Amino acid sequence: MNRSGEVAIVVGAARGIGRAAAERLAGRQVSVVGIDRLADELAAVADAFVAAGRHMETKTVDVTDGAAVAAAIAAVLAAHGRIDVLVNCAGVTGTTGIKTHEVDPDDFDRVYRINLKAALLLTQAVLPSMLARNYGRILHVASIAGKEGNAGMLAYSATKAGLIGLVKSAAKDYAETGITINALAPAVIRTDLVAAMPEQQVRYMTDRIPMKRTGTLAEAAAMIDWIVSPECSFTTGFAFDMSGGRATY
Ligand SMILES: NC(=O)c1ccc[n+]([C@@H]2O[C@H](COP(=O)([O-])OP(=O)(O)OC[C@H]3O[C@@H](n4cnc5c(N)ncnc54)[C@H](O)[C@@H]3O)[C@@H](O)[C@H]2O)c1
Repeated sequence: MNRSGEVAIVVGAARGIGRAAAERLAGRQVSVVGIDRLADELAAVADAFVAAGRHMETKTVDVTDGAAVAAAIAAVLAAHGRIDVLVNCAGVTGTTGIKTHEVDPDDFDRVYRINLKAALLLTQAVLPSMLARNYGRILHVASIAGKEGNAGMLAYSATKAGLIGLVKSAAKDYAETGITINALAPAVIRTDLVAAMPEQQVRYMTDRIPMKRTGTLAEAAAMIDWIVSPECSFTTGFAFDMSGGRATY
């Protein structure tokens, strides 16, 4: 489906799932604004899109900075007059492969600010313009770790569980508008985020996938594309599963 005219913000677009989602939406002629804190990598992704006949505007923002988030969203609205879609893929694992008594509270705080508080800042920044138009699609990428709790990953699991709670609560606040707010809960997709984790931790997660394989970026992008499309209109506050059968609820 050609979706020209729509404007989408994709956060975390320099790498992994965010990059794949931005590419997929740009391929539908959606005007994509890619946000990331990695300026050079984000610019390189935008160049690669051009080489493939696609386009992505870029904004270098650390999304834990509320003023910077507000300024970036205001700039998008000034330039485009609307925001139809927010896909938030910014996330970090923090230190993994450790037990709860070993968790550094400062590391927990850093993971919390990126995985959960930034999601609030981004949601609050896009909502007013969506409410004015009575339309919006907000999707935060959570994790199966937030639904089940992964051993060795307390900060990650707790903040992703919080993110799912944020989505469930915010969705009901706006359920009578045309705005949907959902989460995606993947198991393992081989990205830089996973590559940085101890192999034993990655094995723990992949061993629990009944399909006996990891997910692909193409699968993630396709699912995101559907969830933030106009057709996905009767589902809000939901954590969409993408776990190869690990979660059946
Ligand atoms: N890859 C997986 O197996 C998997 C599984 C479940 C959930 N997730 C979630 O999916 C999302 C994307 O993961 P990924 O695997 O593509 O990771 P990734 O590390 O490949 O990409 C994450 C992107 O987010 C950006 N980012 C991080 N903190 C930021 C900040 N403060 N401000 C701006 N940008 C920031 C990074 O620079 C990076 O480009 C994350 O929320 C992750 O927790 C991933």
